[in-house]
Amino acid sequence: MKIIAGNWKLNGTLHALRHMIDALDKIDTQNTIIICPPYTMLCTDSGRISLGAQDISIHSNGAYTGDVSAQMVADCGATYTLVGHSECRQYHGDTNADVRAKASHAIAAGLTPIICIGETMDEKNAGQTMTVIEQGLGECIPDHAPRFIVAYEPRWAIGAGITPTHDEIAQTHQFIAETLTRMGFAQTPILYGASVNAHNAADIMSIPHVDGVLVGGASLKPDDFIPIITSVK
Ligand code: PGA
Repeated sequence: MKIIAGNWKLNGTLHALRHMIDALDKIDTQNTIIICPPYTMLCTDSGRISLGAQDISIHSNGAYTGDVSAQMVADCGATYTLVGHSECRQYHGDTNADVRAKASHAIAAGLTPIICIGETMDEKNAGQTMTVIEQGLGECIPDHAPRFIVAYEPRWAIGAGITPTHDEIAQTHQFIAETLTRMGFAQTPILYGASVNAHNAADIMSIPHVDGVLVGGASLKPDDFIPIITSVK
């Protein structure tokens, strides 16, 4: 059983989400399916499909125009939230400390945070991939966190149509699993994300310590998303 999460980013409509939920309802799978649409679509009856936010505020409430809190997301019936997605780090300046604070808010509100970490191309070229990962895990995971998911997303591969090699993914996921075990979080699911599609999903999810995938572009249409979900048991 794998976890397949779709990140819709700044895309979609309520109609498209309902269409996706109807289509997913018909497939035979034991996998856990999560969709993270824009906030405006979170209060949707999604049946056995779980919904998650793409980000939450670092604050609980107050004069923070435009923000949406973890509690508000939970109030809509959503059960997950991404935190620390590469685009939030790039465009909103989220730091590891911010991600940790957001993950704490998520847990306090009853959500399961999906904590995203990964290296840029410059960091990869400088041989810093494992350092960035170790630092990300050390700095983003709240102490004694009762539940969370880690998404390893090499930032240089997101939306780029390229992925690391099978061996590179195997090495990073092995390293993440070992680091989480050392930190006392041995049972944490680890997702791979960045340029996952129907052609590479089964291979990627056959790699040890890949407990599922976080899918961006290929999660928007049932014709692209369903083959990813049904490519694994
Ligand atoms: P992608 O995005 O699948 O389009 O590369 C992944 C993500 O942003 O989570």
